[in-house]
Amino acid sequence: MIKKCLFPAAGYGTRFLPATKSMPKEMMPIVNKPLIEYGVEEALDAGLNEICIVTGRGKRALADHFDTNYELEHQIKGTSKEETLKDIRHLIESCTFSYTRQREMKGLGHAILTGRAIIGDEPFAVVLADDLCIHPDDGVLSQMVRLYNQFRCSIVAIQEVPKDQTHKYGVIAGDIIREDLFRITDMIEKPKPENAPSNLAIIGRYILTPDIFDIIRDTPPGKNGEVQITDALLSQAKSGCVLGYKFKGKRFDCGSIEGYIEATNYCYDNLYLKK
Ligand code: UTP
Repeated sequence: MIKKCLFPAAGYGTRFLPATKSMPKEMMPIVNKPLIEYGVEEALDAGLNEICIVTGRGKRALADHFDTNYELEHQIKGTSKEETLKDIRHLIESCTFSYTRQREMKGLGHAILTGRAIIGDEPFAVVLADDLCIHPDDGVLSQMVRLYNQFRCSIVAIQEVPKDQTHKYGVIAGDIIREDLFRITDMIEKPKPENAPSNLAIIGRYILTPDIFDIIRDTPPGKNGEVQITDALLSQAKSGCVLGYKFKGKRFDCGSIEGYIEATNYCYDNLYLKK
């Protein structure tokens, strides 16, 4: 049974400067809820209530968000504003939160390896909170946990992207198992369209088996001098099995300004106004 979900959240978020100069990108709100809270809700919906967060310098707001604020609680007690804290209180009561710090930002692979101290030797999920995934009643992690229970190997969420966008993603090639599932045979990090093995891009949801940690440790830095999770996953795919899953639902790239605005408009119309 998977219980743990890792949130690498140590990156600099340079695309959102100056907003992210002293505030974590993962705390940017979509309407009135921070990105990371959407991710933790998705994890809890999938039955993962041990939340492990990789933080870094200037990221204390993350730990404060998932803790009780007694002064605020006291101030709004008995008023209608208490309602606004209902969802976050539920998360705080239902989950445990553990933190570890990535001292040098050496890439996503390195951030995941940093999480080893709090994950240990068990399969786990990874959520990149700046990829906001929305499904009305079956979250992407819930879909992936079910698949893991069937196949018992690492799984990455994939999405079809326009060919001219492949340079923003890890892109896979694979043998088709069923319409929405591929056994991965190749993976390239941020390829130019002419070098992309397909238009199936990896997005920020993973289920990883714990042997990935040793593989990441032995993976030399790749593109941009960063330790790439894509390179480690390709080694894992070659020596065992990694699946690519075309998830059901919507996904917004909230690490980019355009995606962030799109997500805000969508969530305001479809989640906030309909509450
Ligand atoms: P991104 O590349 O999207 O995030 O990494 P970034 O580096 O913070 O953003 P930009 O490109 O400068 O705007 C994907 C995820 O991996 C985490 C980030 O926090 C984000 O959630 N990450 C990335 C780490 O935790 N550590 C790293 O060294 C790099």
